[in-house]
Amino acid sequence: MTDQAQRLREIINAKKNIKEAKTIAVLSGKGGVGKSNFALNFALGLSKKGKRVLLFDLDFGMGNIDVLMGLAPKKTIVHMFKESLFIEDVIEKGPYSLSYIAAGSGLSEIFEMESGHLEYFLKQLRYISMQYDFIIFDMGAGFNSQHIHFALAAHECFIVTTTEPTSVTDAYAVLKHIYYQQSKIPLFLLVNRAMNSKEGKDIVNRLQTVVQKFLHQELKPLGILPDDREVIHAVKEQTPFLLNNEKSNASKSLVQIIDSYLDDKDKNHEVPNHSFVTKLKMIFTRER
Ligand SMILES: Nc1ncnc2c1ncn2[C@@H]1O[C@H](COP(=O)(O)OP(=O)(O)OP(=O)(O)O)[C@@H](O)[C@H]1O
Ligand SMILES: [Mg+2]
Repeated sequence: MTDQAQRLREIINAKKNIKEAKTIAVLSGKGGVGKSNFALNFALGLSKKGKRVLLFDLDFGMGNIDVLMGLAPKKTIVHMFKESLFIEDVIEKGPYSLSYIAAGSGLSEIFEMESGHLEYFLKQLRYISMQYDFIIFDMGAGFNSQHIHFALAAHECFIVTTTEPTSVTDAYAVLKHIYYQQSKIPLFLLVNRAMNSKEGKDIVNRLQTVVQKFLHQELKPLGILPDDREVIHAVKEQTPFLLNNEKSNASKSLVQIIDSYLDDKDKNHEVPNHSFVTKLKMIFTRER
């Protein structure tokens, strides 16, 4: 095990303008809408562009990022608590040097944390957040109080919906829930499994209109991913679709989404405006 305190001092000495990673929570109302596939391939696409990315599977009990990559993690975040490990000891490496942390089972109970556990977890997060450009949390569907803590503390939330009315209605419910608690958080919409671009754009417009009208907020379009059999094929192959077939419609759309996300200089996506860890601590402490 490395001496974390020593390593942290080295990092700070080496980089004067050390900054925290940008944290992104990927969530949805309805389950099975494509969050994990999107989070994984978005993270991989960023890594391919040379960004330092950590994908953190926070789908308690149902985490499956490792399955989607066809990798078997030696350790999960649960081991960090149970074996008092440092966070870097549970970080696994995927393609393009993507770092990821597997969820493991029993995470839910650990998050009913006693304050010592919480302090330890936050310390580890603070340490790791200085070593990445992006930390992406793949969440479970719907409202789980611990998920919501992470979403509310994150710098940005990506809401994923398909074009089905049930999924759209549930996406709106999540948007409403988040806006009511944290009106300043930038929310982005990803429409997945669109049959064509018109269908995708219609959903974006509809949700933007209701969010503007009833919540008086801006919902930013992240992009539209097509319904593509290549995604299903890639899941069966246990290879991220971006790697399995980079010429597929889904891969091409994803690359466009990543390019326009990174090009969006106005939003300055890599300069966080608050400390994720400090905010997470505040939220966890308040909810106790
Ligand atoms: N763009 C797409 N085109 C075709 N099929 C897709 C697409 N995106 C997702 N799917 C299908 O939907 C399934 C579920 O995707 P995924 O596991 O990413 O959803 P999820 O939102 O993470 O689910 P959960 O809520 O259970 O965590 C995939 O296994 C795949 O079969
Ligand atoms: Mg998932």
